[in-house]
Amino acid sequence: MKSTIENTVKFVKEKLEGAEAGHDWYHIERVWKLSKKIAETEDCNHDVVELSALLHDIADPKFHNGDETIAPKIAREFLEEQQVPEDVIEKVLFIIKNISFKNRAEAPAELPIELKIVQDADRIDAIGAIGIGRTFNFGGFKNNPMYDPEVQPSLNMSKDEYKKSNGTTINHFYEKLLLLKDLMNTDKGKEIAQQRHDYMLGFLDQFFKEWNVD
Ligand code: ADP
Ligand code: NI
Repeated sequence: MKSTIENTVKFVKEKLEGAEAGHDWYHIERVWKLSKKIAETEDCNHDVVELSALLHDIADPKFHNGDETIAPKIAREFLEEQQVPEDVIEKVLFIIKNISFKNRAEAPAELPIELKIVQDADRIDAIGAIGIGRTFNFGGFKNNPMYDPEVQPSLNMSKDEYKKSNGTTINHFYEKLLLLKDLMNTDKGKEIAQQRHDYMLGFLDQFFKEWNVD
């Protein structure tokens, strides 16, 4: 599998050339490394974990007019070319389709351990200092306001409302980022998330102190 992983790295780097900074190759590399770290503490198929981490954002629907069918198609074609066994391909595609935060209401109740690992890794990269950086970058990319005291966060949004949300970047912390700590699947994930969660709380505290100049 070593050469397949190397080929996948090369493929993903090429595909994500020019991607928004929060969803670029370096996001994938961090999620890949975090996935490997968490996988060491779990009984799982390591090839499935690594391939899924590398391919999980290969065609993010939010950059493809909401089309959720492109990523599994691209991933299948690539993995078949690499002669990856069909049972591994199916596990990887299942993970790519079900990993997303916005699809969590539709995901099956029992998730395979490999999905839980990559999902934790992806969510860990959404929080902490990197999470703050990615979130402001994405908000800037969308030309959203940083913060608007008149706009309240909306909790429990449906998938459609979440995707259409023109909220502020600060509201994204309350609508998603601060919820992730309690959604961690693995013990290792929980441990890493807690520290990053506390860091975000400190950031928000400071942000509001500086916003409210008196
Ligand atoms: P997923 O890909 O797991 O469904 P999202 O697409 O909601 O998750 O978000 C991935 C990352 O993109 C977030 O962690 C955040 O950094 C950024 N992001 C998504 N939506 C917003 C938003 N409305 N404002 C700011 N950042 C966002
Ligand atoms: Ni991701």
